[in-house]
Amino acid sequence: MPAHVGIIMDGNGRWAKKRGLPRSAGHSAGAKVFRRSVEDFRALGVKYLTYYAFSTENWKRPADEVDALMRLLQSYLDDIRKMAQKNTRIFFAGDKSAFSDNIIDRLEEIERVSENNDGLYLCIGLNYGGRAEILRAAKRLSAGDIQNATEDDFERLLYTSPMPSADLIIRTGGEQRLSNFLIWQSAYAELYFTDVLWPDFEKKDIIAALDWFAGRQRRFGGV
Ligand code: FPP
Repeated sequence: MPAHVGIIMDGNGRWAKKRGLPRSAGHSAGAKVFRRSVEDFRALGVKYLTYYAFSTENWKRPADEVDALMRLLQSYLDDIRKMAQKNTRIFFAGDKSAFSDNIIDRLEEIERVSENNDGLYLCIGLNYGGRAEILRAAKRLSAGDIQNATEDDFERLLYTSPMPSADLIIRTGGEQRLSNFLIWQSAYAELYFTDVLWPDFEKKDIIAALDWFAGRQRRFGGV
């Protein structure tokens, strides 16, 4: 079983297009699948989850789509907060300062109320980009003893800390790339790509990904 699974939820737009719906309808369907999949992973015994919900590049999308995503996020914050009651530590990776004050307050409140939970670690990438994360960590490190810094020291400065390195990255929607997601953390991750569009991603697809992972031989650069 992988400890840390990263999930790139791709294919919402195509799912909606196939049905003659606006792209925002695909994101709404995707948000429901996000919520359900957290519970599926929890039931299957995965302890660390990182979801890519909004990237530093997603601001380039048409304003109405960005607005729809922000509204969707806002409408799910209560649901996300409720997950804290299930001994879930919830935190958000990325530069929160780009969001409205109201959203920032609620994100920080969720992080605060869940900070002592340790059953499931749920990290949600919001205005997240792997390169920006690495640059930020480098800047933070340069304020300390950079000459003697270890990889562990660096990892502690990433947004995802205290999550361990990623073991498995799942990308739905058929594309085979990382798109700036967990690029430090995925150095030795197994990469699983499926053509299933995110809103169609079900528990059986999670099980298929975990079964595939179980068959991989991980050598971490050794023999
Ligand atoms: C990529 O699909 C998906 C996104 C940019 C947004 C993902 C966000 C969600 C599923 C909502 C998550 C919600 C919460 C509350 C955390 P795409 O639009 O690029 O799809 P396409 O490649 O088919 O166009």
